[in-house]
Amino acid sequence: MASSTRLAAILQAVMQGMPKALSDSHYPGWHLAPVTGLLNDPNGFIHFDGEYHLFYQWNALECAHQQKCWGHWRSADLLHWQHQPIALMPDEEYDRSGCYSGSAVEDNGVLTLIYTGNVKFDDGSRTAWQCLAQQNSAGGFDKLGPVIAVPEGYTGHVRDPKVWRHEDYWYMVLAAQNTQLQGRVLLLRSDNLREWQNLGEIAGSELGGLDAAGYMWECPDMFMLGDSTYLICCPQGVMPEEKRYLNSHACAWLSGSLDYQQAAYLHGPLNEMDAGFEFYAPQTTLTADGRRLLVGWMGTPDGEEMAQPTVAHHWIHQMTCLRELSSRNGRLCQQPIAELQALRERELHYQGRADDAPPIAAQRLELELESLGDIELNFADTLILTWQQNELRLARRSLVSGQWTYRYWTGAARRLQILCDHSSVEIFINDGEGVMSSRYFPDHPAMLTLRGRAELQARYWSLRRCMV
Ligand code: FRU
Repeated sequence: MASSTRLAAILQAVMQGMPKALSDSHYPGWHLAPVTGLLNDPNGFIHFDGEYHLFYQWNALECAHQQKCWGHWRSADLLHWQHQPIALMPDEEYDRSGCYSGSAVEDNGVLTLIYTGNVKFDDGSRTAWQCLAQQNSAGGFDKLGPVIAVPEGYTGHVRDPKVWRHEDYWYMVLAAQNTQLQGRVLLLRSDNLREWQNLGEIAGSELGGLDAAGYMWECPDMFMLGDSTYLICCPQGVMPEEKRYLNSHACAWLSGSLDYQQAAYLHGPLNEMDAGFEFYAPQTTLTADGRRLLVGWMGTPDGEEMAQPTVAHHWIHQMTCLRELSSRNGRLCQQPIAELQALRERELHYQGRADDAPPIAAQRLELELESLGDIELNFADTLILTWQQNELRLARRSLVSGQWTYRYWTGAARRLQILCDHSSVEIFINDGEGVMSSRYFPDHPAMLTLRGRAELQARYWSLRRCMV
């Protein structure tokens, strides 16, 4: 499709779709979501020239995983985001099947995007190019074309470049699949973002002491936090265990140390990033004051996503809230960014038995809870959290089969911080040691009821809207 035709079609889709999305009771009040069509991965998250930019995989034309563009938001305060013109559209031969995920850096004062040009062929095969684009003086992005082809020994599944600066070089982690169909993360180096040297594989399935862990590791991100170098990635094809890795595709972290000279990453085991029903493809960046922030896609690429009721309103999926990462006792922890406290309205308290607690309006809610368990938190009969001494269990009915399905966080939860929006619940456990993120589609006004004989202490606020 020619660029001008695609742009005209997108404009029409937005004009027709946006009123439907915004009038949907499930459309978020304070999370980022597409005004029409399908959103998936966050891309190019960066603090640049005094502002934050967040790009995202967007198919504005329909709720389907096709024709991905880079949508673009900008924010001064990480709370209020303004729509920007679409940054990238799949209008070149080398990105014709989609401008896939990637990252952003500041190169000599210029906002520069590194993304995957995906090319699918009629026989079902594909190739991929890692490409550059630079912001021009009008605020748009000029494509500079491909800078990396599929390296030898890998299939066409090579994508999602995440680039950062370390000392005198640019480094990139890149998701790849080798010809034995094992997921890999490659490390590359460049001194100008245009010519890249592949330093080799730094992690993957059956490498570095890991068991078989999938056929593709999407969306890698690598950064230093505390004394560790963390690698976040999305291994596809990890075997589900009884209580872990239960989503169709996983998102996990590794902690270790990276030897840049040897391109060697010594790391520990895979750890699940989020124990909820929806979490995938997160990306991190540094804030102006040195915090490492993360935002993820609150979705998973699975067969059930199109059963979500928002599809009838011409939109699907949302981002997670922005989270600050920290490294605590060798563990990657996530907590909602402090900026979100500005959304709090009047503070309310409750202390007593769960059974005696008043129902709480859950539409837009922040709730801090302390208890020794056993308590049940029932979100509008649609999502049910059972808090027991050594386990949290989240139950939700499948939108397809109607059967109850479960997710688990194993450990002693002492303290929960729960953030709700119109169709999402994010549960932060023990100050971010664990997180469970899930979408749910309650009738509104949604109420949260607490059940159980245990004593609890609660502090809660309803949250202001800040998106629409
Ligand atoms: C992850 C992903 C990426 C890819 C993008 C395409 O959700 O599959 O690997 O770049 O989505 O939209």
